[in-house]
Amino acid sequence: MKRALGVCYYPEHWPQEMWAEDARRMVDAGLSWVRIAEFAWSRMEPEPGRLELDWLDQAIDTLGSAGLKIVFGTPTATPPRWMIDRHPDMLAVDANGTPRKFGSRRHYCFSHKGYQEECARIVEVLARRYGANPHIAAWQTDNEYGCHETVLSYSKAAHEGFRNWCAQQYQSVDALNRAWGNVFWSMELASFEELELPNQTVTEANPAHRMAFRRFASSEVVRFNRLQCRILRQHSRAPLLHNYMGQSTSFDHFECGQDLDIASWDSYPLGFLINRTDYDDDHKKRYLRQGDPDFQAFHHDLYRAVGRGRWWVMEQQPGPVNWAQWNVAPLPGMARLWAWEAFAHGAEVVSYFRWRQAPFAQEQMHAGLLRPDSAAAPALGEAAQVAAELAEMPDAGTAQAKVAIVFDYPSVWAWEVQPQGQDFSGFKLLFDMYRGLRALGQDIDILPPDASDLSAYELVVIPGLFTLSDGLRAALAAYKGYVLHGPRSGVRNKDFCIPAGLGPDLPGVTATLARSESLPPFAPMKLAAPGNFVKWFDHLEADPQQVAEATADGQPALLRAGNVYCLAGWPDPEACQRILKNLLAEAGLEAAEMPEGLRQRSTQSHRFFFNYADGPIEWQGRSIPAAGVYWQSLADDRSGSANA
Ligand code: GAL
Repeated sequence: MKRALGVCYYPEHWPQEMWAEDARRMVDAGLSWVRIAEFAWSRMEPEPGRLELDWLDQAIDTLGSAGLKIVFGTPTATPPRWMIDRHPDMLAVDANGTPRKFGSRRHYCFSHKGYQEECARIVEVLARRYGANPHIAAWQTDNEYGCHETVLSYSKAAHEGFRNWCAQQYQSVDALNRAWGNVFWSMELASFEELELPNQTVTEANPAHRMAFRRFASSEVVRFNRLQCRILRQHSRAPLLHNYMGQSTSFDHFECGQDLDIASWDSYPLGFLINRTDYDDDHKKRYLRQGDPDFQAFHHDLYRAVGRGRWWVMEQQPGPVNWAQWNVAPLPGMARLWAWEAFAHGAEVVSYFRWRQAPFAQEQMHAGLLRPDSAAAPALGEAAQVAAELAEMPDAGTAQAKVAIVFDYPSVWAWEVQPQGQDFSGFKLLFDMYRGLRALGQDIDILPPDASDLSAYELVVIPGLFTLSDGLRAALAAYKGYVLHGPRSGVRNKDFCIPAGLGPDLPGVTATLARSESLPPFAPMKLAAPGNFVKWFDHLEADPQQVAEATADGQPALLRAGNVYCLAGWPDPEACQRILKNLLAEAGLEAAEMPEGLRQRSTQSHRFFFNYADGPIEWQGRSIPAAGVYWQSLADDRSGSANA
């Protein structure tokens, strides 16, 4: 698969006379893909049943004949105004019971049957008309499921769907009562009819109830997406993809990805850095115009797993965005660095968002590759440079990693439902370990929670996995490499109850979880070796022989039985580095302590270095300017063909 660049384009925003010139300039810049149509429903069908698609025929023809391959987005994220008149109850309802209004986008409830039928209808029309069109080289379903917090809806349609889903899962209401422990606070139900959604309760609802609702809501997204996939596949052989978001965990992307051929995600490094509340101001200041050095890579690795090896960046930030708390411009070079980093992690396509900045509406402050007056914005030149460099680079896939981390969406929901300490986040716990491994120079694969073969890895890290699937249990039983579990792994059954033996219920771990504490930021727990536990501490009762590390006051901090390790707490960066470094050494892997801001990733033929720092870095004879990318052939590890 040849790696390539692309761009997101909205022909409906510009007079038709501009299209051909736009297409020519895209091709001149070295772009080969263009995504269109995902928000254009009001122009495709201005009134119910009155289709106007001639303009789309024209746009496709103009872009396609210029040599561009088209990703066609189904427009279901933006139902037109008339749709609300036809289905007034299709709007999603927030946790306070208020319907979310028309006037932006994603104003629909995934469970609404009438809206699902409307989506099936428009997708069928488009798939029939364009399914065999030679210019349509991929389809995107909808746009960013879950964006603007749209997965959880407390509508009537969702309520009905949830009752049916629970009836199917539990078969009898007695089974549900038992599984959830509804005897507590007299919450027992006499029939599924009595089952409510877990919002607007006086105090918190039962965690099992909330967890079931999260699972149901996720399965509604999967079903909604599957409906479109089935129709598209009847009429087109082009691959199907969806554009997921960064740090978006409200539905199970692994499940959704099963129906698609390619995963893609929308990468806005500067917006993500500013909006992440758990980074301190020093970190934000240091990486203000570059983005966090691990955040993009994490998602590249995650979506490579979601796409079962095939993945893209569908939207790449080109300049300031409009939606973060503050919106700064990237350092010169970052629009190039971000693209190269994606390619080093195995992306097939990196597509910038968007071609030309719109002078109107919500995103008028959002940069494009062109300014609103059509002059080139800074990222256009950087995109052209990447395109030229791509032409010179061998087409090697990303390297097989030796280290893996298991990521599980339901575990993120579980710890949102029951954080127990206000800053506990399953995502953040896992991300901290990912960062620790990257700071030690590792290439990492992210694995789904049902991974069945771990044999490619020397080390597998499993933080915060609240319950283990049978598949993973079997894979771990057969696995010969090193495992690091915890904290908070294997501590619940799937219905959110403490297991009979208290847990942690993990292959190879014989300790008992006597009790857990959450730790406020001002009270970290000192370890005997350098570093602290923060946020979380599990009191593990274990054979003293298995205690590999203790807290400063002598409690088990890290257990070891053979190749299996189990952490009792959330290690701060110092402890995390130290523990991971020891483990890498035991597993026979070489750790490279990366300078602050520098990260590396290997393909099968090259090692790439990315300088996220705001100044130049000299490291092991390599000189890499701020926002610079450097690559060298793996065949001759010392002769860096500098490309900074
Ligand atoms: C994405 C979205 C795009 C655009 C972009 C702005 O979340 O898919 O349509 O809104 O953000 O950064």
